[in-house]
Amino acid sequence: MQVQPISFLCVKKMELKGRHLLSLKDFTREEIQLILDTSSDLKRLRYRSELGTSLLGQSVGMVFERPSTRTRVSFEVAINELSGDSLFLSSQELQLSRGEPIADTARVLSRYIHGIVIRATSHENVVELAAHSTIPVINALTPMYHPCQGLADLLTIQEKLHELEGLKLAYVGDGNNVCHSLMLGGATMGLEVTVATPPGFEPKPEVTKISRERAEENMAQVELTNDPKAAVEDADVIYTDVFVSMGQDAERKKRLAAFLPDFQVNEALVELAAPHSIVMHCLPAHRDEEITDGVIEGPHSVVWDQAENRLHTEKAVLALFL
Ligand code: CP
Ligand code: NVA
Repeated sequence: MQVQPISFLCVKKMELKGRHLLSLKDFTREEIQLILDTSSDLKRLRYRSELGTSLLGQSVGMVFERPSTRTRVSFEVAINELSGDSLFLSSQELQLSRGEPIADTARVLSRYIHGIVIRATSHENVVELAAHSTIPVINALTPMYHPCQGLADLLTIQEKLHELEGLKLAYVGDGNNVCHSLMLGGATMGLEVTVATPPGFEPKPEVTKISRERAEENMAQVELTNDPKAAVEDADVIYTDVFVSMGQDAERKKRLAAFLPDFQVNEALVELAAPHSIVMHCLPAHRDEEITDGVIEGPHSVVWDQAENRLHTEKAVLALFL
């Protein structure tokens, strides 16, 4: 890989400073590569990086409207390891829950803290929060996107398979937030992304459209299919996520009937992929629904390294954006 001169990196870092991270669609290939390279450096030098004081004297608010294990803990640890302070702000305890407008909350928080990490039930609300914030807003999952997950996924693929460009990634399951971020990130970084869903559970058309535009700019490909076996044939990466996302519990029965048994990532499906293929899942997983116990615990699975990479990519995002 070509080593970029320091001056180039400094200029690129400046371009990310102060930006919001709402969706990977807002970032170029160079910008995503810079985040991934910074993540790798921070991982290699976990307690020794010169970026370890990046957040000294800065406070980051963490607003969570939904449960979280990985995102909450990895962000809190990331902020600590960069010498900053995190404030956990449960949405129930903010005046937002009593009707204070999002715009007012954004303007007030911008006077106290230096960045907002938010997991929200509405993507539009996060966009509105960002529009009125003078500090970076980082999307920690909405029903539409999960960009922090997408970055950790790309880092994991790059580490395991030593490149991104030209790899075949098969996403099998629900065309949801995780799928959307993977499509956008994958297309921007030159992957061939095939998404296999049951009819009616495809990714949102606007995400498919933007992903295909990115793919065209980056010699990548984005295909949709209803055939999981065709999608995984010779794939380098198989990815799945839950069939019932947070907030969809009322649809559980209908969803499981649509996805099972054909869209389960099981041993027979993995057998169709390339012999060196890796199996990914953003977690939490529902064993024997979207993925079998044998596959998640098996030799192709990289899910624990993938979960660890949330920490390193979030440290990079905080160091570069705040
Ligand atoms: N993958 C992920 O975002 O996990 P959490 O819901 O535990 O944060
Ligand atoms: N699609 C899942 C991802 C969880 C990290 C959800 O939104 O619940």
